[in-house]
Amino acid sequence: MTGLQSQPVAAELTETLPARWYKDPEIWQRERWPIFGSNWIHVAYDHQLRNTGDYVTENLAGWPIFIRRTDDGALTAFYNLCPHRAGPLVFDGEGCSKNLVCKYHGWAFNAEGKLLSARDFGAPAPDNMDLTTIQVASWRGMVFVCLNPATPPLLEWLGDFPKEIEGVPLESYRYHSKSVRRVACNWKTYGDNFVEGYHLPTTHPAMSRDADALNYKVEFKGDLRWNIHTMPPRDESTFSVFGYFWPCFAFDVFPGGFAIERWLPRGHTHSDLIFEYFFADDAKEIEETVKFSEEVADEDARMCEHVQRNLDAGNYNTGLLSPKWEYGVGVFHDLIRDAVGPID
Ligand code: FES
Ligand SMILES: [Fe+2]
Repeated sequence: MTGLQSQPVAAELTETLPARWYKDPEIWQRERWPIFGSNWIHVAYDHQLRNTGDYVTENLAGWPIFIRRTDDGALTAFYNLCPHRAGPLVFDGEGCSKNLVCKYHGWAFNAEGKLLSARDFGAPAPDNMDLTTIQVASWRGMVFVCLNPATPPLLEWLGDFPKEIEGVPLESYRYHSKSVRRVACNWKTYGDNFVEGYHLPTTHPAMSRDADALNYKVEFKGDLRWNIHTMPPRDESTFSVFGYFWPCFAFDVFPGGFAIERWLPRGHTHSDLIFEYFFADDAKEIEETVKFSEEVADEDARMCEHVQRNLDAGNYNTGLLSPKWEYGVGVFHDLIRDAVGPID
């Protein structure tokens, strides 16, 4: 054994998840259902789904799904999968589809996903060939889905988190813009990075000039699935509050606006890092704020890609977590271990 693998482990320190967890396709398969299928995942916004027939698709940890607004104003969500021969009901992206008709051979479904007609099938429309619905709900303009029907409703699942951020006037801010980066790292590599402030002075020197990064705090308030980060700003114009909710949802609050930050896995080797910015109509220096946030995101993405290459290299197994700064990483790893169960 070489390198860090040969270092003795101090009994009181916590080890990281082994490198294998970040690169083994079998572990990714073990993660998919308990983590991404059984938790509520934020995938869209109410403003994308205003009118009857509006839809948004997503590839949720490998499951193609779509959300659609029905003519009575309700949100519905389905696997984007026709029971005939697995054709799509809508193509990828977002749009408006007044009727639910499979793109492949034209089977038609009602708004609730019940089969209405099997076009020119040569036999009566078969029974039990409806679309599979999935849970969908919106909270404060954000639309979440959950594949597992046994998971409690969204508001119950969110626990005390809504209370914690009820003072942030999300609804008074207007959608501004979005950025998407395809980052060559496992979703957990980015997650590890989000839940600690240890890297700020070194990875984000410009941010640390504007804020007191040495007093960055990650606080847990009873429920280990979420945490709130605070960093004293040096003046009125910088970031100061961040939040994280398991498994891949986060937000950044800054003067006059906020960003939703999420990282959706694209298999076990890549993640899409998505930022959506919202601002008050009278917010100042919007373009500068977005530019600065994007630079920070570039720094994180570059660092996570480099860490991932090192995790993949084969001469590192586990590291040690700083008890002062990286408690949140240990909690994140415990949630992953609990969800996946023992690995041989
Ligand atoms: S796959 Fe949908 S109609 Fe054939
Ligand atoms: Fe960072």
